[in-house]
Amino acid sequence: MTNTRIPLAGVIGSPVAHSKSPQIHMHWLKMHGLPGYYIPMDVVADNLEHVLRTLPQMGFVGVNITVPHKEKILEIADLVTDRATLIGAANTIIFRKDGQIQADNTDGIGFIRNLQQSAPNWDPKAGPAAILGAGGAARAVIAALLEVGVPEIMISNRTRVRAEALQTEFGKSLIVVDWVQAGNMMEDAATVVNTTSLGMLGKPPLRVPLDGLRKGTLVTDIVYAPLKTQLLIEAEEMGCATVDGLGMLLHQAVPAFERWFGVRPVVDSATRAAALR
Ligand code: ATR
Repeated sequence: MTNTRIPLAGVIGSPVAHSKSPQIHMHWLKMHGLPGYYIPMDVVADNLEHVLRTLPQMGFVGVNITVPHKEKILEIADLVTDRATLIGAANTIIFRKDGQIQADNTDGIGFIRNLQQSAPNWDPKAGPAAILGAGGAARAVIAALLEVGVPEIMISNRTRVRAEALQTEFGKSLIVVDWVQAGNMMEDAATVVNTTSLGMLGKPPLRVPLDGLRKGTLVTDIVYAPLKTQLLIEAEEMGCATVDGLGMLLHQAVPAFERWFGVRPVVDSATRAAALR
């Protein structure tokens, strides 16, 4: 008998049953023949801190954080990485050996790595990006796009003040466009990103006119249910390169898995299949 502890990880949210992260991480553990488990945990906001302080005592090495705790977690964590501070939210927690809780955000990296892997010819510097939406997901996407050198970001949101708040925060590279003009802003874009929930199963469709889209523009959606959103179907018909949102979910999980379990996993067709199972 050895006294080696089996490393544990999981995802905390409420609700959390829909999360695909357990399938992704368990697939990688199995692929690499590593000991470990990854489980979904439904925790309400009032219990979040207590749960987080207790988990390391049970062998947890870290957790993912999902809706609705991604912002609140920053107040609880002892250490917050620069990129999590910039985005204003965290999706990955590391329980450090010194007892401190570190909060990180890998959504932006996941977004960029997904584009790099799925559209290798994509050049972020080729021209402006157009972003639909100004919620939490938009923040991660904006921070990531600016980091890889997108020269300018046009942003349009139903509630204009939310886009203006992002402009105040991220600076002059952001240009706010009225929601009724969202279609027009795509005419000049080299990269188009939907960060709204529109087009998701059970949500209203995205009604922004797409006829201004240029051939060669890269169009991506963070919605991955359905995998091929109406935005991606129409963009493809118009000759645009398209990338679905599942890859962002898979790639955001890579740095967390590596940190917790010590092996850097690859995102391949088997990983996609595991997430869709
Ligand atoms: P997330 O953290 O996933 O980005 P969020 O902060 O709730 O979630 O943001 C959801 C985004 O989808 C917002 O940009 C929201 O627009 P508002 O800021 O105007 O709410 C957008 N969205 C959701 N439902 C919408 C709808 N019916 N029409 C237009 N935009 C919508």
